Amino acid sequence: MSELAGQVVVVLGGSGGIGLETARRARAAGADVVIVGRDPQRLARAADEVGAAATAAFDATDPEALQRFFAGLSDPVDHVMVTAGGNYYARLADLDLDRARRLVEEHLWLPLHLALAVTGRLRPAGSLLFMGGTGGRRPGPGLLLPGALTAAMPALVANLAIELAPARVNLVAAGFVDTELSARLLGDDLERRREQLRTMLPIGRVVGPADVAALAVHLMANTAVTGATYDIDGGQQLV
Ligand SMILES: NC(=O)c1ccc[n+]([C@@H]2O[C@H](COP(=O)([O-])OP(=O)(O)OC[C@H]3O[C@@H](n4cnc5c(N)ncnc54)[C@H](OP(=O)(O)O)[C@@H]3O)[C@@H](O)[C@H]2O)c1
Repeated sequence: MSELAGQVVVVLGGSGGIGLETARRARAAGADVVIVGRDPQRLARAADEVGAAATAAFDATDPEALQRFFAGLSDPVDHVMVTAGGNYYARLADLDLDRARRLVEEHLWLPLHLALAVTGRLRPAGSLLFMGGTGGRRPGPGLLLPGALTAAMPALVANLAIELAPARVNLVAAGFVDTELSARLLGDDLERRREQLRTMLPIGRVVGPADVAALAVHLMANTAVTGATYDIDGGQQLV
C-alpha cells in the first residue's frame, strides 16, 4: 500500500485522535507527514510514534500563524487535513458566546484562512480535507451551532473545490468517533454511550479514529473526488 508514495501530507491537529491516526495511515501509505498541534510535548510524542518528518506547534485558528507555517515550508505540499477543533453543544439559554465563536472559528474561518494560506503552496493534484459531522443534520436540543455548521460546511467545501481547482477539496462527516474529544465531551457517560452505540448502530460496533483515517487517505489518493461530503457514522443517522 503505497498510494501516497513521495507525497507530503500536513495534518493540522495531528497530535491526537483522528488526525494522529490519519498521519499514521498516510505514513504507512508512503507519505512524508508533517503534524501540527498546540501542545508541544504531545506533538513530540505523536511525531515519534508515527515517524513524522516535521512538526509545528501553533494554534491553527490563528490566520497569521497559518500563513507563516505554509510560507516557511521548503517544498509544496500534496494534502492538508484539518482535524484541529472540537465541538460545543448548548441550548440558546446556556450559550457561552466565547465558546460559540471559537467553534465557528474552527469550522468556518479556519478552512477559509487555510485556503488562502496554501495558495501557491499546494500541488495541482493535491487536496484539502476537512472534518464535519452527521449528528447535527436533524435539529435537536443543544444542536444550534453544530446544526448550523453541519449545514454550512458542505457548501463551503463545494465552493472551495471550484475556487481551488485543479486541487481538490473534500469533507468527511463523522458521527460518534471514539477519541479523546468524545471522552472529554461525555465524561462519565462515555462507556454508557459506547454500549448504546454497539447495540444501536447497524454496524454493531463503535467507529474509531482508524476508520476515519482509512477514508481520509483514500480521499487524498483518489483524484476523481472533489467538492464531496463523505459520511462515516456506522449508520448512526439512519437509526
Ligand atoms: N470525535 C468525534 O466524535 C467527532 C465527530 C465528528 C466530527 N469530529 C471532528 O473531527 C475533528 C477531530 O476530532 P477528534 O475527535 O480527533 O479530536 P481530538 O481527539 O480532540 O484531537 C484533536 C487534535 O487536534 C489538536 N488541536 C485541537 N485544536 C487545535 C488548534 N486550534 N490548533 C492546532 N491543533 C489543534 C489537538 O492537540 P492540541 O490540543 O495539543 O492542540 C489534537 O491533536 C474535530 O474537528 C471534531 O469536531 C469529531
